[in-house]
Amino acid sequence: MTRPTTNNAGIPVGSDDDSLSAGPNGPLLLQDHYLIEKNAQFNRERVPERVVHAKGGGAFGFLQVTEDVSQFTKAAVFQPGTRTESLARFSSVAGELGSADTWRDPRGFAVKLYTTEGNYDLVGNNTPVFFIRDPLKFPDFIRSQKRRADNHLRDHDMQWDFWTLRTESAHQVTWLMGDRGIPSNWREMNGYGSHTYLWENAAGAKHWVKYHFKSDQGVGYLAQADADRIAGEDGDFYIRDLFTSIKAGEHPSWSLHVQVMPYEDAADYRFNPFDLTKVWSQKDYPLIRVGTYTLDRNPENYFAQIEQAAFEPSNLVPGIGTSPDKMLQGRLFAYPDAHRYRVGANYAQLPVNQPIAEVNSYAKDGAMRLRNPADPVYAPNSYGGPHADAARAGEALTTYGIEDEVVRSAYAPHAEDDDWGQAGTLVREVMDDAQRDRLVSNIVGHAGDGVSRPVLERVFEYWRNVDKAVGDRVAAAFDA
Ligand code: HEM
Repeated sequence: MTRPTTNNAGIPVGSDDDSLSAGPNGPLLLQDHYLIEKNAQFNRERVPERVVHAKGGGAFGFLQVTEDVSQFTKAAVFQPGTRTESLARFSSVAGELGSADTWRDPRGFAVKLYTTEGNYDLVGNNTPVFFIRDPLKFPDFIRSQKRRADNHLRDHDMQWDFWTLRTESAHQVTWLMGDRGIPSNWREMNGYGSHTYLWENAAGAKHWVKYHFKSDQGVGYLAQADADRIAGEDGDFYIRDLFTSIKAGEHPSWSLHVQVMPYEDAADYRFNPFDLTKVWSQKDYPLIRVGTYTLDRNPENYFAQIEQAAFEPSNLVPGIGTSPDKMLQGRLFAYPDAHRYRVGANYAQLPVNQPIAEVNSYAKDGAMRLRNPADPVYAPNSYGGPHADAARAGEALTTYGIEDEVVRSAYAPHAEDDDWGQAGTLVREVMDDAQRDRLVSNIVGHAGDGVSRPVLERVFEYWRNVDKAVGDRVAAAFDA
């Protein structure tokens, strides 16, 4: 038996095809509330796209902890043998909701872990560093990557203008112009928490950590020409790849590792360990395996489960805290604020965002509220409402020491801090000859597209500062 079509109130409707009219050729009737409901709903079926990372896809899965890192953190999610259900969303940054997957861009790697202690979100990228180190510059940086005010076109002159004026971008731009700038698909890329976080163990001892998700599929890339072709043939190439792989029973996985730095090392590590434009040398702090992250279930409704997914770096669980990374601090504000605007004040109650942990908050009412707290709805009260746990007052979230004047300033430098050194190391020690060739060719192709002469002169200088040979080759390609 077929299921009868109903309206949104569950009432059977008379036709899937014909509106109510005065006679077969007559005008339509206002009393056709089903016609009105259907079209009115249609007019409202979008929420604003994410201001960044608008184009993406995702899947559900789980983190299986296989090792013992309990000496570093008491977080339930990382205790030996723990399995935690999860949602991952992958994305590009600058393109809009319908943009081609294979444009050159960093890729978002956002993970939501539904832990027994509340949601823990690791909202990272496929590169371990970022373009800037102060959140005050984030809107400027993003505007330089998006569209011009006058003609609504993206503009490489604007991009290189910003990058060459803010030279802390060099490390990330080197990643971007290299192979990582266009992964072969989302399964074959690594993910990084990028920021430095604080881990606290059961005895209260603290360590700084960085997260690395290493793809078990290996890391692949697309050459620029292939990416351009695919952008024309299938703009949704990555979404399709992830969905069809999981549907076919090929479940992508990543090995989760952390780098762990003793709390006291941070003060005089040779690089500022909280500067998001820097990595920690793996010789200094080797990777420690935690477990395996696997994606094994496709969404059933893209809008409900992926578009309305709300990731937030402020979702930190007991045993995990923030750090003096200024970018991380900016992000703690930005994401919940974006969700309230984009999805609505009660976004956390949607099934995809809802924690498995019990929610006992004093938040109340607002549009689309599904559940309210039972009375009493205020604290303090003498009627059995929830009580904050005083034992949490001193937890990791707030407890690295701060004793300083209030200033507007760049970070105080560490011994080897500069804007070029780690980018140069990436070019000379991580890339091989073929990768360096592609780096030069990608830079020349990108900067050759509409970049004005004064900005180009800075582009040459920028790359000579990263690596003399690369800079000379870029300059020669333009001057020859
Ligand atoms: C998305 C702000 C830096 C990774 C977003 C969104 C905002 C935002 C407003 C849209 C959220 C939404 O509507 O759902 C910022 C600010 C930053 C910053 C203010 C710096 C101060 C970063 C960094 C990373 C990152 C450093 C990676 C290490 C992501 C990812 C998403 C995202 C992966 C998409 C999450 C998803 O899949 O829903 N960001 N961002 N962002 N951002 Fe950032």
